[in-house]
Amino acid sequence: MSAGIKLNEHLYWIGVNDRQTDFFEELWPIPNGIAYNSFLVLDDKVALIDAVKDISLDRYLKKIRKLVSRDRGIDYLIIKHIEPDHSGAVKILRELFPRMQIVGNRKTLELLAAFHGISENFLTVDDGSFLHLGGCRLQFHITPMVHWPETMMTFEQRHQVLFSGDVFGGFTALDDGIFDDRIRDLGPYEYEMLRYFTNVIGKYSVMVQKALAKIAGLDIRMLAPTHGLIWRNWPRHAVGLYDRWSRYEAEDGVVIVYASMYGSTENMMEAIAHSLGSETTGALRIHNLARVHPSYILTDIWRYRGVILGSPTYNTGLFPLMDHLIRLLENKMLRHRVAGVFGSCGWSGGALQELGDFIRRMKWELVEPAVEVKGAPREEDLKRCALLGANMLKQLRTGIPRGGEQGDSL
Ligand SMILES: Cc1cc2nc3c(=O)[nH]c(=O)nc-3n(C[C@H](O)[C@H](O)[C@H](O)COP(=O)(O)O)c2cc1C
Ligand SMILES: [Fe+2]
Ligand SMILES: [Fe+2]
Repeated sequence: MSAGIKLNEHLYWIGVNDRQTDFFEELWPIPNGIAYNSFLVLDDKVALIDAVKDISLDRYLKKIRKLVSRDRGIDYLIIKHIEPDHSGAVKILRELFPRMQIVGNRKTLELLAAFHGISENFLTVDDGSFLHLGGCRLQFHITPMVHWPETMMTFEQRHQVLFSGDVFGGFTALDDGIFDDRIRDLGPYEYEMLRYFTNVIGKYSVMVQKALAKIAGLDIRMLAPTHGLIWRNWPRHAVGLYDRWSRYEAEDGVVIVYASMYGSTENMMEAIAHSLGSETTGALRIHNLARVHPSYILTDIWRYRGVILGSPTYNTGLFPLMDHLIRLLENKMLRHRVAGVFGSCGWSGGALQELGDFIRRMKWELVEPAVEVKGAPREEDLKRCALLGANMLKQLRTGIPRGGEQGDSL
């Protein structure tokens, strides 16, 4: 991918793959990298749509140089949000193309000043306003808080390309090409799209729904997010995925997440898993918190309707990794799940109380029984674990959970 890739007579993809960063936002693992998609419109006017993080700048600038001579220069840089994974190259671009105007809304300008100390040569656009580049015509749609306050989408009307920002984006570098129809197996890309959604965007699901309503009237031929695939064959499919995820719709299946220092909580988990596994209709996923990064666990919990959390008591409360996970879930404000809880303690306990409180705060449906055991589980304890599994299945079979219902034990 050394040169830009032509998307249509005027439009080029000039993004770069990042294979050096270990954790996106220093939080979310990206073992397969990530792409920063940037686009160049070559018309009577020359416009860059989003830039890249301040890595791989050599490669990025080379791509621009191949398409744009020094004389011609760049007229506009449209920034759809200021997060540095897209604005990192702004300063160098301004040095190279001093005439270039940066285009954004009022909030963009505030953040541009705060992050880069730039406030001159800025063109302010409003919701619905146009920018004519020649044959190509950009319209701006302000879609606030997905996931920064200044986020907006840009629609190129002539070729019906929606530059959607982070919405519809995904982790992983673009290895087998940038287009949806060039990918042999979309499954892994869709998984990384969901992981990106749950890790980065999901908290703002309500705002995603508003953004989707806003673009519903556009006849989108190509969907060009700032990360991940360019959707030119199935843009509606990508929109449909985002619609489902941001409505908290889930697939059939159960995720068991547990921690265990000395094996008691793990033995309980095995009994629950066994009772689920013998009858389950959907997927069964089991995650040991000590071994799996919460990025992947969040993704599964967003994906499946049932979740069962197991934690030993640790210093009167939750095992620290479980504490971290539930804080993340609460921050992401995931709704409409069916949940069960279990765990082992030594003497006075505490973990199960906290798990129960968490589920009530989330307004998830709590499945009985909450199984708490002192020390190692005995035969009758394991039977209660199996009952929890059986009740979870029963509850899931009754259909879509109603948000707002609460269990009455604990
Ligand atoms: C560092 C540490 C702190 C603990 N704190 C408590 C506690 O505050 N209250 C309690 O009831 N048990 C406490 N326990 C006991 C554990 O909850 C108990 O050993 C339990 O069976 C561990 O389950 P596991 O085998 O799944 O790790 C503690 C254990 C350890 C190692
Ligand atoms: Fe972002
Ligand atoms: Fe981004």
